[in-house]
Amino acid sequence: MTKTFALDPIHATPAETTTAAAAIHPASLLALPPGEAKQSLLTVHSILDAKLPAGPLSIYEAGGGSTSFLPLNVLRRAHITVVDIDPDQIRNNDYAQEAILGDIQSHRFAPRSFDLITCYNVIEHVPDVEAALTGFCEALKQNGLLLIGAPNPKSLSGVVTKYSPHWFHVWFYRHIRGEKHAGLPGEAPFPTHFHPLVTLSNLEAFAAEHGLQVIYRKTYESPRYPEMRRRKPILAALVDAAARTMNALLPGKTDVRHGDYHVILRKL
Ligand SMILES: C[S@@+](CC[C@H](N)C(=O)[O-])C[C@H]1O[C@@H](n2cnc3c(N)ncnc32)[C@H](O)[C@@H]1O
Repeated sequence: MTKTFALDPIHATPAETTTAAAAIHPASLLALPPGEAKQSLLTVHSILDAKLPAGPLSIYEAGGGSTSFLPLNVLRRAHITVVDIDPDQIRNNDYAQEAILGDIQSHRFAPRSFDLITCYNVIEHVPDVEAALTGFCEALKQNGLLLIGAPNPKSLSGVVTKYSPHWFHVWFYRHIRGEKHAGLPGEAPFPTHFHPLVTLSNLEAFAAEHGLQVIYRKTYESPRYPEMRRRKPILAALVDAAARTMNALLPGKTDVRHGDYHVILRKL
């Protein structure tokens, strides 16, 4: 049964507000700093709420690891299957009914098995994204949804991540983000490949060719910026100044801070 909270927004204490939020949103969303990333994820949640069928759901989290970004009211009525290549991530997963140690490029399910497939913060790590996406297309039911969250390779953070070595990513996570366990077994950051299909325009072209309709698409400021402004204000001011200069020099309305995107595709 789903618990409902009648919260008086004027008189609620901070603890009551936090408890109410934790009853609705996954910890992954609550951990995001206020900003465009959180706002887009809330929009994704409202679309999933509106578009997924009522009743029990069948969900595949491809490269799901041990953290879900899905809304709790969706998770609570779903049978969740996670496939991940990392044994530590599979061991740490505590919400999937089925946790499979496997490779999303080659692991296959029966056709039309899932109402929703989510591949969140994963495709940038996969050498053959086309193989993974082909498997998702087959495994989706008609009208099923595919949610992809990924870094934008055409942004400042995307270019830096794509062309810098893995040890730099570990250093950034440890010393700028303050993640002491970064790089240890089962802990982010994971090695990146940046297959061409991670680029949003290529992903959209693939979708059009494979009977997938784009129902939501949003590039947004990477949550690393608000995080850095809070933790390392001087470094953040320098990066913001560099980003402003690049935006002024680049044609059109490019915002190089748009480091990540969400896409929701519907199988026609
Ligand atoms: C950055 S983590 C994201 C985990 C989770 N989706 C999240 O957002 O917290 C990337 C995940 O992709 C998994 N992964 C990378 N390549 C994979 C592959 N070929 N098949 C399955 N999982 C893979 C990693 O093991 C890791 O758990």
